[in-house]
This record gives sequence, structure tokens and C-alpha cells, in this order.
Amino acid sequence: MEDQAKGLRDLINKNKILQNSKFITIASGKGGVGKTNFSVNFAYSLANFFKKRVLLIDADIGMANIHILLNTDPSKTLKNLFNGENIENILVNRYGFDALLGFSGIDSISQMDEFSISSLINSLEEISYRYDYIIIDTGAGIDDKIASFLRASSRSYIITTPEPTALMDAYALIKSIYNIYGYNNFKIVINMAKSKEEAFNTFNKLKISANKFLGIDLEMIGYLPLTQNLKKCVKKKEIITKLFPNDPFSLEMKKISAIEAEEPMDKQNINFWEKVFDFLGQKRKK
Ligand SMILES: Nc1ncnc2c1ncn2[C@@H]1O[C@H](COP(=O)(O)OP(=O)(O)OP(=O)(O)O)[C@@H](O)[C@H]1O
Ligand SMILES: [Mg+2]
Repeated sequence: MEDQAKGLRDLINKNKILQNSKFITIASGKGGVGKTNFSVNFAYSLANFFKKRVLLIDADIGMANIHILLNTDPSKTLKNLFNGENIENILVNRYGFDALLGFSGIDSISQMDEFSISSLINSLEEISYRYDYIIIDTGAGIDDKIASFLRASSRSYIITTPEPTALMDAYALIKSIYNIYGYNNFKIVINMAKSKEEAFNTFNKLKISANKFLGIDLEMIGYLPLTQNLKKCVKKKEIITKLFPNDPFSLEMKKISAIEAEEPMDKQNINFWEKVFDFLGQKRKK
């Protein structure tokens, strides 16, 4: 009987390894630099231009707003999941990808008991293996939750703008995650660039500081131009890569997605959700 159970477990684990998904956390340090617009358009681009199976998660707990950009029903959120509802009822399918929406207000994870955390992890694990990509949009700042997602991710995209304050906060985020946890798998996106030259100059400042003071070699995965079309889209609750596919923003987004789509699958993230909740200080019930 025990052998049978072990056999089944091995089979499940084997399938999980074969279908391994990439977990990418999007963070910035400073607020308002374009994380959410990046996440939504990245999900759209990977799903529609590269035929990837994508799950987008709004982990900006308390200040969630992906549902606004997706112009979708805000009643199905992670809060329902924390309260024990079946994950299948909460998944939202929009524009060719799935989303787990966040909610506004106080977070209830801290009030969950071990058993609820354990079933939450199980349901997140069960659905994660369906996707090639799980993209996690986080909030501004550096807190334990953001650090947990960053540390557990295959790679993390750090979004900054050319503004010195945004650049300083991006550096501070990279520095603390590296100094505290030794994690250094960052890719940089320069958003709201007025020119390619400005984007490269901005990236070089960050690269030089990270190299000189931390000994980390940073890579820029791409840059996104400042565009009025993006602002128009936000007002209309539309997404730019869909509404203006030929806008320079959308074309650059497609380049970033093409680079990402070429990256090999990662084997290190088999227990992503377990790691996230362990890092948060919540031990999974065995
Ligand atoms: N490339 C761009 N061109 C023009 N405007 C932009 C661009 N990127 C972002 N913005 C503007 O910045 C605003 C904030 O973007 P977004 O909500 O994606 O930032 P955020 O980093 O997720 O913010 P928060 O830290 O509050 O979660 C957008 O509503 C838009 O007006
Ligand atoms: Mg946001």
C-alpha cells in the first residue's frame, strides 16, 4: 500500500518536473513606475504572440488593480481563495491568459491557520503546473511578502524609470535582497524612456553601481518608451499591446517577450509556493 502511494507521488513529481513552469516576479522599489502595466502587457504578449500558457497573479495585496486594467469583475479575488473557496471558481480568463485577481483592504493571510495555508499551497501548486509562465505583480516598497516572491522566483524583473529616485529605489531593492538572501537573479526593464539612449544610460548607472558595490552583474532585458497611448489605455481600461500593437511600447514589449520565450525551462522552482509561504514564516502542514 505504501509502495503504491510512493509510486503515485513519484509519478506526480515527475510530471511536475516535466511540465515545469517559469515564475517571474515583477518588482520595483518605487511606486508608480509601471509594474502593473508591464505585467499585464507582458502576460498578453507572451500568451498571444508566443502562444504561451500564462497565469498573471496580482500580489499587490491591499492595493490590487489588475482587475481595472483587465476591465473585469472584481468580485473573484485571492481573498475568496484565502477564505477557502475553490481556486477554479476564482480564476479569471481574459485576453488569452488566466488571472488571479487581488483585492483592496487588509490582508487575511496572517489570520490563516496551518491547515488553510496548506490547502492554499496545494491549490496554487495544482494550477501552476498548467502554465508555462506565472507572472507575479507586486506592490511598491520592500516587505517580507515581496522578498518571499523574489527569492522563490526563477528570475525577477526589476522595473525602473530614468528618474534618479526610481533608480535609487531599484538599487536599494536589489541590494537588500542580495545582501540578506544572496539572491541575484535580476533582469532590468527601463520604463518611460524618452529615447533608447536614455534607457541605456539609465541601465548603465544601475549596472555600474551593482557591479562596484555588490559584485553583481546585471542584465537589461529591454526598455519601454514613454507613450501617451499607454495613458489613454489606462483611462479606457484597455491594454496597449492589444489596442495599439504598433505603438513603440508594444513593439518593445514583444521584443522582451521574445527574449523571455527563448529562455530554457528552469528546474529549480518545483516547490515555488511552498517556498513562498515558508519564507513568509508559515510552515506547511505535512
Ligand atoms: N511607458 C509609459 N508611458 C507613459 N505612461 C506610463 C508608462 N508606464 C506607466 N505609465 C503611467 O504610470 C502610471 C502607473 O503605472 P502602473 O500602475 O503600471 O505602475 P505601478 O508600478 O504598478 O504602480 P504601483 O507601485 O502603485 O503598483 C500609469 O497609469 C501610466 O499613467
Ligand atoms: Mg501596480
